[in-house]
Amino acid sequence: MHLSRRLLMAGLAGGVLAAPAAAQTNVTLTHALAANSHYGVAAIAFKETVERLTNGRYRVTIQRNDNEREAIEATQIGTQEFTITSTGPVGNFVPDTLVLDIPFLFRDYDHARGVLDSAIGQELLAKFTPRGLIGVAWMENGFRNVTNSRREVNSPADVQGLKIRTMENPVHMRAFQTLGALPTPMAFSELVPALQQGTVDGQENPIPVIVANNLNQVQRYLSLTRHVYSPAVLIGNPGFWNRLNAADKAAFQEAAKAAVQANRDKVSADERDGVALLRSRGMTVRETVDTAAFQSALAPAFEQYRRQFDAALIQRITDWKPGS
Ligand code: PAF
Repeated sequence: MHLSRRLLMAGLAGGVLAAPAAAQTNVTLTHALAANSHYGVAAIAFKETVERLTNGRYRVTIQRNDNEREAIEATQIGTQEFTITSTGPVGNFVPDTLVLDIPFLFRDYDHARGVLDSAIGQELLAKFTPRGLIGVAWMENGFRNVTNSRREVNSPADVQGLKIRTMENPVHMRAFQTLGALPTPMAFSELVPALQQGTVDGQENPIPVIVANNLNQVQRYLSLTRHVYSPAVLIGNPGFWNRLNAADKAAFQEAAKAAVQANRDKVSADERDGVALLRSRGMTVRETVDTAAFQSALAPAFEQYRRQFDAALIQRITDWKPGS
């Protein structure tokens, strides 16, 4: 007798045949970084919460893809259900989000997190829907800092002529052009070889990314320019999201909240410990830079952003205060 038939007969005879297992749906979530990074811990919190709240009816597989544009495309067409991505390439899909990429828009983490948690954040998440994506929750990447292999950066004069890899983001590229650098947009997946081969002199990323990716191995100088806050966002596929029943959607929303908390906690911890760690790995770190000089040098870019974006929205973001 065929093995499965023998097992079936044995189960029937013993009266112990289990109820058919509930159908399981597999869900894929991608992000660009290592499991112990600020995206990695968020992805794990998401997975664990979804699986617990749905009693395992949904299984989340976490995969790494350090080409964020590709990951957004895959989420849009539905070959994967979710991605966590910086807003770097998001503006090419949802142009309204580009306003968040303006340099020196956010004063500090409280300001950025407060705005993203406010009605402004919700309004911007709603802009994903007409673009064939679901903006599930704002997460974060952190304040970006310049690293390079040539010299300490303290003032705008120091970045002049440097070839700096930027994300594929027109707002960032304009800023570096205005500062006299040579912005070279590329996916993160291409960054380390480009630094090793000298195709670019430097790059800019938040402390959690520099730490998680050991960029100290390919870059000598780090300057805490904090020139732009880099939001991240959990994006979902509309076909998948819209088929969820109310209870399952609530479980995924709860999981997104757990992911945001894990993400922010890790960013805060990396901001606290990361600079000392990078120094201990041999980086030369300049902690105070001439921020006012960077802001004045960017005046022509700010003028252009004011023309390009909704000035009232920029004002609401700038004016945000706790409790507002
Ligand atoms: O520099 C980037 O492309 C992004 O900051 C990164 C590292 C992929 C994280 O979102």
